[in-house]
Amino acid sequence: MRLENKKALVTGASRGIGRAVAELFAVRGAEVWGLGTGEPPDLAGRIAAAGGKLHWISLDLSVLETVEETIKKALEESEGFDILVNNAGITRDNLAFRMDLEDFRSVLDINLTAAFLAARTLGRWMIKKRAGSIINMSSVVGLHGNGGQANYAASKAGLIGLTKSLAREWAPRNVRVNAVAPGFIDTGMTESLPAAVREKMLEQIPLKRLGKAQDVAETVLFLASDSSAYITGQVFAVDGGMFI
Ligand SMILES: NC(=O)c1ccc[n+]([C@@H]2O[C@H](COP(=O)([O-])OP(=O)(O)OC[C@H]3O[C@@H](n4cnc5c(N)ncnc54)[C@H](O)[C@@H]3O)[C@@H](O)[C@H]2O)c1
Repeated sequence: MRLENKKALVTGASRGIGRAVAELFAVRGAEVWGLGTGEPPDLAGRIAAAGGKLHWISLDLSVLETVEETIKKALEESEGFDILVNNAGITRDNLAFRMDLEDFRSVLDINLTAAFLAARTLGRWMIKKRAGSIINMSSVVGLHGNGGQANYAASKAGLIGLTKSLAREWAPRNVRVNAVAPGFIDTGMTESLPAAVREKMLEQIPLKRLGKAQDVAETVLFLASDSSAYITGQVFAVDGGMFI
């Protein structure tokens, strides 16, 4: 699967899954714009070594008022994006009775509302061009729920509703919108979990290993590429069979 002559915007590209997506896209020929709060020092070098070029957009997605304006500016500079990966996400876990309103809101803001704003800003351009692929990073937790993650699960379930609704609105203009639902992936987001929790999770994974960021990136690549030209409004679980 190649992405030659395609321009992609990847949010949360500084590490973990977003970084793996940015690198894989560049290796497959795309021009990549990474978006995040701080540019990772070594990513541009790695992408250059793969023959690509990384552009960086510094943006804190929690400041919702600035999201559309910043992305519009990037759109002008890039002269249009073919692919958007709404990957940035955070967790603020707690049991529902102990969860602050602020922890509920901030997770919804970054994981869901910022993704909506980014999709709408680039969607306008894609619709005019009659081409585009948007991939939203949901989670198995958005499909099945999880105790201690009411805010996170609501944001990830919300992304699935957003995906299906935008897919219906924009399909007539050949703009596809899909979601990926990773299971337990070995990144910064999960490394701080206690060993006992990780062991318990492993027991529930038929493929008997944690996922790698690369496993998720390969699915995102498929959905971004023309190989998935007839697929829209779908949710792809990348979870080692956790919920067969
Ligand atoms: N790791 C997992 O097991 C797992 C499972 C399911 C879904 N996911 C989802 O995949 C996505 C990537 O997760 P990851 O595991 O790579 O996590 P990570 O914590 O390693 O990376 C998250 C990325 O989002 C960026 N980000 C966070 N807040 C931001 C903000 N306010 N503004 C701009 N960027 C911001 C971070 O800088 C980072 O680049 C997330 O949406 C996450 O919810 C991860």
